[in-house]
Amino acid sequence: MFRYLIELIKKYHNKNILRAHKKFLLLNCVVGKNFCKSPAYKDTEMQLLNVKIVNKTGDKNKIRFGSYCNVTVNIFLNEKGSITVGDYVYMNSVHMRIDHNLKIGSHYLFGPNIKLWDTKNHPLSSSERHRQCEYIAHHGFVDSYQAGGGDINIGDDVWIGMDSIILGGVTIGNGSVIASGSIVTKSIPENVLAAGVPAKVIRMID
Ligand SMILES: CC(C)(COP(=O)(O)OP(=O)(O)OC[C@H]1O[C@@H](n2cnc3c(N)ncnc32)[C@H](O)[C@@H]1OP(=O)(O)O)[C@@H](O)C(=O)NCCC(=O)NCCS
Repeated sequence: MFRYLIELIKKYHNKNILRAHKKFLLLNCVVGKNFCKSPAYKDTEMQLLNVKIVNKTGDKNKIRFGSYCNVTVNIFLNEKGSITVGDYVYMNSVHMRIDHNLKIGSHYLFGPNIKLWDTKNHPLSSSERHRQCEYIAHHGFVDSYQAGGGDINIGDDVWIGMDSIILGGVTIGNGSVIASGSIVTKSIPENVLAAGVPAKVIRMID
């Protein structure tokens, strides 16, 4: 009886957390049909808790997911950025820090622990970094828009292997595969396998 009561309270508690989380998510992004409802997840409802979004633009339309997307993702979108994701996209523990515009096509697979980071944040010069450390301590973070970076464009039917990093100003062409552990610093054409640090084209894919 006591155990039954605990289970009931837990269920009620989880439902409340989920309801609040869903509400918060839908204030911060726009999702298409069947968002995070794949039967691959045991508890499709609770799966939504793995979608974490900080949207600094103040406009939910700046983050758009298409239909049938199943994602576990941690997004930080800065004030002037935007994120557009196509249909049938799968992301497994992906982290994004986006200051510019990120566009991801459809039918897309992201392996675990991928990072998309489109801003440079800190200067290479040691004296400027020295000043920046003190600035951060006294005034908060610097305006990353002054640091450069650029849009990321990822085509359709792309697969990115686990633990890869995609940097700003990069395009990945339709149909390409990025092997696990790669760091993509320059654009990759369509229908190729690219690998390594920095990622280089290894061969064409049929
Ligand atoms: C994409 C992938 C499947 C390609 O495998 P493949 O077709 O068998 O590729 P090959 O073994 O023919 O490799 C071709 C060349 O690329 C190199 N290569 C393959 N993967 C590499 C990697 N991750 N980093 C660097 N080089 C790599 C190989 O050493 C080989 O070099 P060589 O020609 O000098 O011998 C594989 O690289 C990969 O990333 N696997 C992990 C996928 C993953 O992340 N899964 C998680 C679930 S989404």
